[in-house]
Amino acid sequence: MNSPKILDGKSIAAAVLEECRAETLELLEKGIRPGLAVVLVGSDPASQVYVGSKARTCADLGFYSVKIELPAETTQEELLQVVRNLNADATIHGILVQSPPPKHIDEDAIIREIDPRKDVDGFHPENVAKLVLEDATGFVPCTPAGCMKLLEVSGIETNGAEAVVIGRSMIVGKPMALLLVSKISNATVTIAHSRSKNLAGICRRADILIAAVGRPEMVKADWVKPGAVVIDVGINRIPDLSKKSGFRLAGDVAYEEVAPLSSAITPVPGGVGPMTIAMLLQNTVRAAEMATR
Ligand code: GUN
Repeated sequence: MNSPKILDGKSIAAAVLEECRAETLELLEKGIRPGLAVVLVGSDPASQVYVGSKARTCADLGFYSVKIELPAETTQEELLQVVRNLNADATIHGILVQSPPPKHIDEDAIIREIDPRKDVDGFHPENVAKLVLEDATGFVPCTPAGCMKLLEVSGIETNGAEAVVIGRSMIVGKPMALLLVSKISNATVTIAHSRSKNLAGICRRADILIAAVGRPEMVKADWVKPGAVVIDVGINRIPDLSKKSGFRLAGDVAYEEVAPLSSAITPVPGGVGPMTIAMLLQNTVRAAEMATR
């Protein structure tokens, strides 16, 4: 058994945040404080943890940060109005509406209402188009951007590599595949999903395997080519009565059995998660800089 390189998202994210801190100081000297608004509808406990963590990181960097917590019964029109108010608010440079919202909310319509220049999630169709077109003036979704940064900083070669992305969400899977296949990264990319035939066989082709399905420990050892790089995007809660919280966190990858045969792997927690927040703050600093021009 070899010992894999553990891709330490926590320390790489800390380095990204230090760059953001320096850029924030420069903006503060010009009288601009980067402002991020995070909107949470309903009380999903996992979402509350993420939103709290985003707010803490903002405070640490000296951002202006607003957390808008709305009841689960909030109507579509009320939520649209919240977004419109934030669009018009000059102190806010980035707007994030935590996904998923309650079922009665038309999330696409909410995303379309966000000013694309404040869409630090990179979910607005204008930013999605820019990603497809490889136009660097858009915002790239934070989780896939964080995965790319992890690969880049860790010196993992994507050029010509066979990459498999499991999951086709607009938040992770699709943008991840676009970034990997871009003219900067030059990977050969397969997007696999729950309806793919022979999922294990497809995954076994991967030099770089990205798991973004939201099913705990689904990727087993026999899905992974020896020496592959494994990026685990999943953050799943599994009931565990031995824990005070009553649960433990598990990724989409069966870490204990997969790690020994991989060449590099992200842990959960402490892998992709911290990178997502770092990229969100990076996008927000950029949005603030763009607003000065
Ligand atoms: N839910 C899970 N990840 C994300 C994200 O990156 N942005 C938003 N808005 N919601 C999420």
